[in-house]
Order: sequence, then C-alpha cells, then structure tokens
Amino acid sequence: MLKVGIDIGGTKIAGGVVDAAGRIVEKLRVDTPVDTGALADAVIDMARHLGASHDVSAVGVAAAGFVDRDRASVIHAPNIAWRNEPLKAILEARIDVPVTIENDANAAGWAEFRFGAGRDVDNMVMLTMGTGVGGAVVLDGALFRGGHGIAAELGHTRFTRDGLLCGCGQHGCLEQYASGRALQREANAIADAGGIGAALAEVRADKGTLGGPAISRLVLTGDAGAVEALRRVATALGEACGGFQAVLDPELFVIGGGVAQLGDELLAPVRIAYETSLPGYGDRPVAAFAIAELGNDAGLIGAADLAIADPIASA
Ligand code: BGC
Ligand code: NA
Ligand code: ZN
Repeated sequence: MLKVGIDIGGTKIAGGVVDAAGRIVEKLRVDTPVDTGALADAVIDMARHLGASHDVSAVGVAAAGFVDRDRASVIHAPNIAWRNEPLKAILEARIDVPVTIENDANAAGWAEFRFGAGRDVDNMVMLTMGTGVGGAVVLDGALFRGGHGIAAELGHTRFTRDGLLCGCGQHGCLEQYASGRALQREANAIADAGGIGAALAEVRADKGTLGGPAISRLVLTGDAGAVEALRRVATALGEACGGFQAVLDPELFVIGGGVAQLGDELLAPVRIAYETSLPGYGDRPVAAFAIAELGNDAGLIGAADLAIADPIASA
C-alpha cells in the first residue's frame, strides 16, 4: 500500500510516495512559500504530482504546530501564521484521497520509532532541533497524543523563569534555548563579544551574520566560540531531558533536526547535562541517546505511515 507523505518545513516542503516498509519510492522538494495560501497550493500541487504516477490511498501532512485530536486543524503554530487553520478540509477540497494532518515532530518521531533509530525500543522520546524544538513521545509502542491531540510539545515546557519571549506567547520556553535558532543567537553573541573563537568572529565580520551551516563547519573545525555556542544549547536540551526522564522514563532519546547533523559533537554535552540533572543519578537506569537516522526524510515518512487511508479505496 502506497501513501504520500508531505513535510512542511520552515524552508522546504519535502514530499514522497512511501511504501508500507517506510521506503521512499519517489521524492520531491520545493521551497516553502511564506504566504499560507500559497503554502496550501504548493502542498496540493505536490500531492497531485506524486499521486499521478502512483496508486496512493492517503496523504499525510506534517505541520509545525499544535494539531487537534481529529488530525484536521492546526490549532496554533508558534512559528507560522496558522490559528485554527482547517488544513485537512482545505487540502481535501482539492485532493481526492483522505488527508491526515500530523504534528511534524510526532511524524518524525514515529518514523524513527518504526524504521529508524528507535526500532528496537518500546518507549522513546524524540526532540527535533530546528527553527523550533519539536517533541514526540512513544509509550509502550504507541504515539502519545494526550487529551486534545497536542501532547509532546516538549519545546514549550518552561526552561527558565523570566526568560525570552516565545512564539507560543509564553516566556522562557525550551525552544528559545535549545533550537537551531538559539544556536545561531548564541554563536552570534559570542562572535560579537569576541575573546573566544577567532574563526567565529572572522566569519561573522565577513558575512554579517552566522547561519547554521557556517556554525556547523566551525564546530567541526574545533573553533572554541562555535563549540561554546553548541555547548550552551546542548546543555539546555540535556537538562530538559533529565526532566522528561522523570516524567516519561524512556529507554531512548532520539535527537533530530538540523543541529543533530553535528552528531557526537552535540550528543556528548547533551549527555553530560542530562546526567547532572537526572533525579537519582548513579542509582537508576538511564536512557540512551541517539541521533536520528532518517534525517530530513523522517517527517514525510512518518506522515505517510500515520495517514489514514479510505477503507474502501485501500481494501
Ligand atoms: C511547535 C511544534 C513543532 C516544533 C518543531 C514548535 O515550535 O510548537 O508543534 O513540532 O516547533 O517544528
Ligand atoms: Na509533537
Ligand atoms: Zn513556547
């Protein structure tokens, strides 16, 4: 059975035809339009295009926001202009198979659980470090959705009191301290202050501002300023994981999103912060940490896998 999965990212929309084993049969990528109307058009075009050459029974769409219980509307999106956006209805009006909306991090986490880094565990937490911080919680083999469909918004747990304003309307959310954006903010602040990381200040002077790829390159060359910026966001994430461990007791944390491409450079300081914030550390079992295996494809694979097909069409 083939399904289409589409992941609406901050910069790219990635879509693919996915089989029951989570393999991508065909894939497309386009730039994400800023305007929400143009965004829906782009998703529809992609779904139609992918559906034209394959017999697909459903479309799953991963979106960066709070998705309601019916997997139909985006109730709130901290970093996109969606407020009670009836995305399923908008898309189904112009796509002739059922559409299921899913939270982007839930989709990515589900894909990692089924087909990636989490395939051998039953209890897993995924965190994505991108524009925002996304979360997915798998408990006893099932995706945990909560009472209103919007559980696992781990990026919007309060990390610090009186902290930075967040897109969700609150202050001090983890997202403001552990996202790809937070990494950029820290790296630029370190470059501005000077003192550590000569290379960082140089790139900063040259390009005006340091973007994610430049910071990653500097981390991998061992630049002290970039490494310090990464240590700060990794520490925020790791400390938060100590709290998530206390509540959910996962066997495994999977870290994804752009920042996760740094691999062990990221995981090492995350583990240190996790251990120093874990209740009962030394006496208790601890979780393992892994980098996501499916990379940028996780969201679309999970969205396809979670998409609910028309029972008649798929019989
Ligand atoms: C949103 C989540 C989303 C995450 C990653 C957060 O700001 O609240 O719904 O999963 O960003 O895109
Ligand atoms: Na989520
Ligand atoms: Zn928030």
